[in-house]
Amino acid sequence: MTVELSPFAIMNRLKTQCIGREIAYYPSLPSTMDTAREKARQGVVEGTVVLAGEQTSGRGRLKRNWLSPKGNIALSIILRPGIAELPYLIMIASLAVANSVESVTGQKTQIKWPNDILIGGKKVCGILIENEIKGNNVNFSIIGIGINTNLNTAEHDEIANTAASLKSPEEADSRLKLVIALLTEFENLYFKLPEGKQIYQAWRDKLVTLGKKVKATWGKQIIEGVAENVDESGALTIRGENGAVTKVVAGDVTLKENPKP
Ligand code: BTN
Repeated sequence: MTVELSPFAIMNRLKTQCIGREIAYYPSLPSTMDTAREKARQGVVEGTVVLAGEQTSGRGRLKRNWLSPKGNIALSIILRPGIAELPYLIMIASLAVANSVESVTGQKTQIKWPNDILIGGKKVCGILIENEIKGNNVNFSIIGIGINTNLNTAEHDEIANTAASLKSPEEADSRLKLVIALLTEFENLYFKLPEGKQIYQAWRDKLVTLGKKVKATWGKQIIEGVAENVDESGALTIRGENGAVTKVVAGDVTLKENPKP
């Protein structure tokens, strides 16, 4: 049986100043991204979290579906950053997940560019960031985080070979600990802005992608080569077999060799 995450238990134990001070919990939602957007437009305080027991139309990057049945973690954090801080949000979110999963479960994580969290080479968490920008002002950013917990990946053909899930006998308690650790770590990193150098370095160090043969796709373009570097804006540089270098700003990367766990 799946025990629901309690927003009161989270808020009682959370010692943050901003992230998660307000939590809007819904047992079932189409997507926390849409509800978070409505709330952001209504003017809720920065750091408000929308948390769902399950999502019925969870979405991922590049218009993919995201599975989040009961027992998973699906949440969106509403931020009001400056425009110069936007590139760091991907880095903050992926580091916050990677560090909190490691501290709560003891399992080693890696980040696949730009922001997939892997355990043993398989994806355990996905992150989706949506911004509303007017001119040079960011009205808000929504950071959507989905962590596979208690998900039997073998039951879902589309992710059976590529996804992993965290499991625990005391699943409600460990999910609670994980959400608290995640929101705390997120705030610690977010409060380091606008200085993002340290965040960039830490994110870069945890990327499994660098030095690997990759296939990158964005729009209708595909390029294969070696992932050479990432810059502070988050863009990935790939050197093709002919020596040509391409910068990929947003896209999807498949590793042509398995990362070492
Ligand atoms: C990806 O890897 O493609 C990103 C997946 C993001 C999933 C999360 S779950 C919470 C939030 N609500 C959604 O509908 N999507 C994000």
